Amino acid sequence: MAADTSARLVVAIETSCDETAVAILRGQELLASEVASQIALHAQYGGVVPEVASRNHLRMLQPVIDSALAKAGISLNDVGAFAATCGPGLATSLMIGTSAAKALAIGFRKPYLAINHMEGHLLSPFFGTSEGIRPAIALVVSGGHTLLVEIEGFGRYHLLGQTQDDAAGEAFDKVGKLLGLPYPGGPNVDRIARDGDVARFDFPRSMLHSDDFNFSFSGLKTAVRYLLPKLETVSLPDVCASFQEAVVEVLVTKTLRAVQAKRQHVVALSGGVSCNSRLREAMRAACAARGVELLVASPALCTDNAAMIGYVAALKLAHGESSSLASDIDPNLRLVA
Ligand code: KG4
Ligand code: ZN
Repeated sequence: MAADTSARLVVAIETSCDETAVAILRGQELLASEVASQIALHAQYGGVVPEVASRNHLRMLQPVIDSALAKAGISLNDVGAFAATCGPGLATSLMIGTSAAKALAIGFRKPYLAINHMEGHLLSPFFGTSEGIRPAIALVVSGGHTLLVEIEGFGRYHLLGQTQDDAAGEAFDKVGKLLGLPYPGGPNVDRIARDGDVARFDFPRSMLHSDDFNFSFSGLKTAVRYLLPKLETVSLPDVCASFQEAVVEVLVTKTLRAVQAKRQHVVALSGGVSCNSRLREAMRAACAARGVELLVASPALCTDNAAMIGYVAALKLAHGESSSLASDIDPNLRLVA
């Protein structure tokens, strides 16, 4: 009985960038999800400093593991498998989480699972749904990636398109920086845009009509830069709202075009930028108008967290998969080879 329960408890560690996160799952039930954010530490530099991130993962990981164990009401002896994000991300950050998970797996003689951070984001909208993973068109919009993916089932993904330059979150953060907003720009642009006019500036919708599912956001950032000399005389909320609208229009239009081209009926929206209030609203309206179901995770599961890593680990364990302790980190790991 005890052995049966222990086989299903997973501790997952996520340290790919600047969040130290630990989650505990029993099967696909989330028992604890702890995130120690380093945003305040990096804000003074205007972006993530890898050495600072790595040092703080090392400092924070043990207390975050302890706090997750306490919340879940379990001890390490109960755990059936240890998982960690192995890429993509910052090498020195990934090394902390994977080394800890491997050490625990060796110490407690349990399996180790190396998890792709992007698969975590990709599948997060399905976490907690009764149907589990279903065929869908997935838009993954994070600080480092903008991916349009066709999901056939667990582990069967086809990359339809991606950004040719800046990721959507990167565009939000760079524009936030240009406008003098605190790091990270995304949530601040979102907040300020609420009081702005989306039609005040006609910013470019790059690749909106291109014959593919790729994206480009660097031209949009440049268009905002041209406004800077006039920033004193224009409304900051109008700039934020018009910029955000341009990003959202392209993301929503291309996602729905993929839905139509691939004859899918479900959209799965994920990644930190899927917290964006206008993106959620516009995607919801576009899906509803076409009778398409929209799955989007709760905001805590959209930004970096370990629950999504634990979910993928639990799915892999259920499929009889685990990873070699010799497997290495890969800062450039791709979702689809
Ligand atoms: O998925 P995530 O937490 O980390 C990566 O894997 O990159 O995404 C972080 C990105 C940042 O660029 C951040 O500015 C953006 O998500 N973000 C937002 C919002 N909340 C987070 N962008 C726009 N609006 C938001 N509300
Ligand atoms: Zn992420």
